[in-house]
Amino acid sequence: MRRRAVIVMAAGQGTRMKSKQAKVLHAVAGRPMIAAPIESALALGAAPIVVVLGHQREAVEAYLQGAFPGAPIVTVLQAQQRGTADAVRCAEPALEGFDGDVFILSGDVPTLPTARLEALDAAAGEAPLAVMGMRLDDPKAYGRLICDEAGRLIRITEHRDCAPEARLIREVNAGIYRVDARLLFRALGGVRPDNDQGELYLTDLVALAAREGREIAHLILEGEAAADAEGVNDRVDLAAAEARAQRRLIEAAMRAGVTFLDPRRARLEWATRIGPDTVVGLDVTLAGATVIGEGVTLEQGVHLRDTIVADGVHLKPYTTAEGAQIGPGCVVGPFARLREGTALSAGVKIGNFVETKKARLAEGVKASHLSYLGDVEIGAGANIGAGTITCNYDGVHKHKTIIGAGAFIGSDTQLVAPVEIGDGAYVGAGSTITHAVPQEALAISRVHQRNIEGWARRKRLEREEG
Ligand code: UD1
Ligand code: CA
Repeated sequence: MRRRAVIVMAAGQGTRMKSKQAKVLHAVAGRPMIAAPIESALALGAAPIVVVLGHQREAVEAYLQGAFPGAPIVTVLQAQQRGTADAVRCAEPALEGFDGDVFILSGDVPTLPTARLEALDAAAGEAPLAVMGMRLDDPKAYGRLICDEAGRLIRITEHRDCAPEARLIREVNAGIYRVDARLLFRALGGVRPDNDQGELYLTDLVALAAREGREIAHLILEGEAAADAEGVNDRVDLAAAEARAQRRLIEAAMRAGVTFLDPRRARLEWATRIGPDTVVGLDVTLAGATVIGEGVTLEQGVHLRDTIVADGVHLKPYTTAEGAQIGPGCVVGPFARLREGTALSAGVKIGNFVETKKARLAEGVKASHLSYLGDVEIGAGANIGAGTITCNYDGVHKHKTIIGAGAFIGSDTQLVAPVEIGDGAYVGAGSTITHAVPQEALAISRVHQRNIEGWARRKRLEREEG
C-alpha cells in the first residue's frame, strides 16, 4: 500500500463564529471539532499528521497534545492566512522526503466518517488528485465543481468568482482531497492569487493538473452523506453539526440495544457508552466518559458526567451525578445530587434531595431523604435518617465521618466531623454528635422535653379576653 500522510488546515480565525475561542476548539458532541480529522487521520494510518495552525496556535496545540499523546502529529505555523494553498504550502517542510498520498482535511468538518475518506481513496484509484464533492439542494457559498462534457472535473470555481450560470451548479467542493505528494508540492508553486479575494486557492490545483492532462477523480456525496461533509463556519452550522453527531451517536446506541423514549430528546457525548436493555428517558444528558451498564433505567432529566453506572440501576427523574460510581441495582433520586468521589456499592438507595460528595456507601445503605453526606464512609446496611448532615467543614479543613455497618442514624442529626459511629450503633433523632459513639450504643444529645399542662389553653383565653 502507498504511504499516507494528512494535512489538517486549521489556521483560520473563524470570524463568523464571533468567538474569543479558536473555531476548531468549539465542541461537537463534547469534544473540540479538530478531534474529528485527527481521529480520521489515525484511522487512515497516516503519518505524519501535519496540522496547520495560526489563530490561537498555543491553545490548539495544547489540546492536541493532551488529547492525542503519542500520535504522529506535527504542527506548523501559518502566521498569515493567505489562503488554503498557502496553508498547505506551510506543511511542506514537515513532509520533506514523504512519498505517497496526502489527504488534505479541514479542522472545521467535524462529522465526516472515516469511511468517506476510504471511499475517496477507492474512487481515486491511480489518479494523482481526487476531490471530495457533495450534491446539495442549496450550494451556499461552496466552491463549484466544473466538469467537461465527459464528466471529468476540470476546475473548481469559488462561489464569489462564479458567473451566474455556474452558481446554479449543485455539485460543490467539500474541501477534502487526496493528492500525490509530488504533484501537490510541484503544482502549489503555480498557484496565483488572481481571484476576488486575492488569496492563494488550493482549489486551483484542479485546473493546473487538468492542464497537465493528469487524471482527476472526484466523488460526490449525496443526502445525509453530503450533510456529514459540511463544514462549520458559524454557530448555526455548529448546531447543525451537533444535531448530526447526536443523531449518529443515538442511532448507534439504539442499534446496540438501547431504548430512547424520544431520540431527539437525549444528548450523548462521543465517549459515552451504554449497555443493552437500558432505557433512556426524556431530556437525559450523558456527558464525558460516562459508562452505563445493562438494563439501567434513566428517567427524565437525568444528567451524568464522568459517571460509571452498573447494571440494573434505576435513576429517577432529575438525578445528577459527576465523577460518581453507582453500583449494581442502586436506586437514586428523584432530585439527588451525587458529586465527585461518590461510590455506591450494590443495592444502595438514595432518595430525594440527598447530596453526596467523597462518600463511600457500602452495600444496601439507605439515605432516603434530605441529607448532606460529604467526606464519609458508611458501612453495609446502615440507615441514614431524613435530614442527616455531615458537618465536614470547619471553615478551614474538611474532616471525615465514619458510620459503621448496620448503624441507624435518626432523623435531623448533625454529625460533627471528625467523628465515628460504631457498627450497629443508634443515634437518636435530632442529635448533634460531636464525639465517637461505640458499637451497639445509643447516642442521644437533644434537650430533655418538658410539657407544661394547659399552657396553650391559658394563652388562648388571655388573647380572647385581651
Ligand atoms: C474552501 C474551498 C471551497 C470549499 C470549502 C469547503 C478554497 C479556496 N475554497 O472555501 O471550494 O467549497 O472550503 O468548506 O480552498 N485555512 C487555513 N489557512 C488559510 C485559509 C484557510 O488554514 O489561509 C483553513 C481554515 O481554517 C479552514 C479551511 O482552511 O479550516 C477552509 O478555509 P475556509 O476559509 O473556510 O475556506 P472556504 O472559503 O470555506
Ligand atoms: Ca469553510
